[in-house]
Amino acid sequence: MNRQKSVKDYIRTIVDFPHEGILFRDVTTLFADARGFRICVDQLLSPYAGIPIDKVVGLEARGFILGGAVAHQLTTGFVPIRKKGKLPGAVISQAYALEYGEAVMEIHDDAIRAGERVLIVDDLLATGGTASAAIELCRRLGAEVVGAAFVIDLPELGGRRAIEALGVEVHALCEFE
Ligand code: PRP
Ligand code: ADE
Repeated sequence: MNRQKSVKDYIRTIVDFPHEGILFRDVTTLFADARGFRICVDQLLSPYAGIPIDKVVGLEARGFILGGAVAHQLTTGFVPIRKKGKLPGAVISQAYALEYGEAVMEIHDDAIRAGERVLIVDDLLATGGTASAAIELCRRLGAEVVGAAFVIDLPELGGRRAIEALGVEVHALCEFE
């Protein structure tokens, strides 16, 4: 019997992008498929049904696509966390390390009010550096981070442990070695 495709089945792997030795997990093929995108968004938000959430925080760049859809479905506001220099208003900044390279993330300093409950959304959890910086930025604005939701976890890179060590529960739809 034919089984229905899972979220993982829609994700394409590109070898040696953006550097030799990296297996790039490409979610554009998941997003481009109507059923794939719907089940992905539905599964991302399913653990948070009935839990009060004020804002969904999406991480540049693919977290914007997912976070926007999740925020719409949960009827919450959406807040972007962007790479340095992209946000037009007053920001707070946080440096972080990537699987390949280093960067700085920023959030508008008035995007979240103290005490608001936020859900962080991104496509992929690798080392956890990006999501840790996002948690730090949200907490510096006084937010309560109720969870961090990802399509993909790369368990070998230890991101889940890093996020859980910050006291934030991780929800991921699939894993790649
Ligand atoms: C990717 C991915 C996550 C981050 C995960 O984004 O979308 O945001 O890396 O890696 P980490 O857990 O080791 O921090 P990338 O930095 O490639 O940026 P982009 O989405 O703007 O291309
Ligand atoms: N970001 C960090 N590592 C990645 C990978 N292997 N595939 C896609 N995005 C990534």
